[in-house]
Amino acid sequence: MKGLILAGGHGTRLHPITLGVSKQLLPVYDKPMIYYPLSVLMLAGITDIQIISSPDDLPLFRRLLRDGSELGLSLSYAEQDKPRGLADAFRIGADHIGDDSVALVLGDNIFHGPGFSGMLQGSAADIDGCVLFGYPVRDPERYGVGEVDARGRLVGLEEKPARPRSNLAITGLYLYDNTVLDIVRDLRPSARGELEITDVNRVYLERGRAELISLGRGFVWLDTGTHDALTEASQYVQILEHRQGVRIACLEEIAWRMGFIDQEACHRLGRRLAQSPYGQYVMEVTAAG
Ligand code: G1P
Repeated sequence: MKGLILAGGHGTRLHPITLGVSKQLLPVYDKPMIYYPLSVLMLAGITDIQIISSPDDLPLFRRLLRDGSELGLSLSYAEQDKPRGLADAFRIGADHIGDDSVALVLGDNIFHGPGFSGMLQGSAADIDGCVLFGYPVRDPERYGVGEVDARGRLVGLEEKPARPRSNLAITGLYLYDNTVLDIVRDLRPSARGELEITDVNRVYLERGRAELISLGRGFVWLDTGTHDALTEASQYVQILEHRQGVRIACLEEIAWRMGFIDQEACHRLGRRLAQSPYGQYVMEVTAAG
C-alpha cells in the first residue's frame, strides 16, 4: 500500500499565523503537525509516501523530512498549485499509486489510541473497496458524516450536512483499493467547486464496497483547524507525554519499532537532536543494554 499526505490549503481559519507558515508545519506541542499523520501511515506499515502541498510550502516540507531514507522511508513530493478538494490528491498522486492500493491521510489530523497500529495493518492487508474511520463528535455538521444501520453497517454519507443524521464524523484517514483512480477520473467538482472525498466514498458505498470502522470512545481524534483546537491538541500531547513519559508520533522511535531502521541508527538520529528533550527521548529509548 502506498501513502499520501495532503498538506495543502491556506489555513485561513488560523490567520494570521498561517500567513507566514504552512498550517501543517505548526507545532503541536513538541513536533511539527505533519509528524502526527506521517506516524499514522508508518504505524500502518507504509513506507512509500508522497507529500502533496502548495508550490510555496513544498520546499519547507522537503527541508524538514528530506527523502525519508534515514527513517527507512521513501518520501516524494508533489505540487498542488491550488486547493481543488481532497480527492484531487489521487489525481496528483496517480503515478505514485501506480497499480497499488493507497492510504490518504490529511496533514492536520491527529489520531491516538490503543491498538491503532494493528487495526490499521489489518485493514490495509488485502483491501477490497474502501475503509473509513468514524468518530463520535459533538459537532458533526463540521465534517463528513456517516450514517449506520442497527448493525453498525454504513448506509449513508453526507458532507457537512446542516442536519446530520448521526454524530459520527468521517475522519481524515481513508484506505482505498486501486479503483479509486478510476473513480476520481470521472469525478465532477461539487457546488463549491471542489473534488469531494465524500463523493468518492459514496461511489464505494453504492457499490457495497465501503466499510466503516468506528473508533470508540477511548480513542482520540483531534482537529487542529482553529486556534482553540490547535492549543487543545498541544495540551493533550503535553499531558500524555508528561504523565506517561512516552512520546507520541516520535518518528524515529516508530521507524525503529516498526523495523524500518535498527536501534543503532535510531540512536544516532536522536543524538543529532540531543539539545532538545525530543532528541534526548530518542536516545533514551534506544540506549544500549
Ligand atoms: C475534510 C472532509 C471531511 C472530513 C474532514 C476530516 O473537511 O471534507 O469529510 O470529515 O476533512 O478532517 P475539511 O477539513 O476540508 O473541512
